[in-house]
Amino acid sequence: MNSFELNKIAGAVLFCLLIIMGVNQFGNMLIHPKTLAEPAFKIEVAEEAPKGGAPAAAEEQDPPVAGLLAAASADAGKKAFGKCAACHSVDKGGPAKVGPNLFDIVQSPKGHMAGFAYSDAIKKTEGAWTYENLYTFLKNPKAYAPGTKMAFAGAKSSKERADLIAYLRSLSDSPKPLPN
Ligand code: HEC
Repeated sequence: MNSFELNKIAGAVLFCLLIIMGVNQFGNMLIHPKTLAEPAFKIEVAEEAPKGGAPAAAEEQDPPVAGLLAAASADAGKKAFGKCAACHSVDKGGPAKVGPNLFDIVQSPKGHMAGFAYSDAIKKTEGAWTYENLYTFLKNPKAYAPGTKMAFAGAKSSKERADLIAYLRSLSDSPKPLPN
């Protein structure tokens, strides 16, 4: 093989490489690969609690839950419950999912589902699931019960929480009286 043949071979190899790169580029021009701007399916997850400082102090004061409940809509609450339904069943005797079943939760003791592995965080909080406690818990679960397993960022809107509670209240054989 003389050097002229070698040159020809080298030339052919280079030429092939150029063609391959060209085709690749051309392909990219034809098909614009796009990444989704937002994930196709979103799950709301609790944000990290800010370190130090008192975040609650900066937030606006919520109106009392009693007044909101008087005007709350269980139907709207049922719709809003879409964001809870991945983790909670609501039918009587329904199974635990990621979270416990929520039938008859209003005015029940904390950790009301027998056999569910609750975190200590929930059990350590005071009192039963009163309207007030649900209202505060659902706003920011991690602030109400630091260390809770409920990975939900919270429903910031007080009206939405009142609707949710009205819906939870309806999940009972005998719904508890509304607060005065
Ligand atoms: C990502 C899953 C998840 C989502 C979403 C979620 N929860 Fe939970 N929830 C849990 C888990 C897990 C627990 C148990 C918490 C613990 O033991 O710390 C819980 C506990 C609760 C409790 C206390 C139950 C009891 O027996 O003491 C209530 C009430 C509740 N959730 C309501 C809601 C509502 C209302 C929503 C929607 C606004 C919601 N959760 C969204 C997972 C979830």
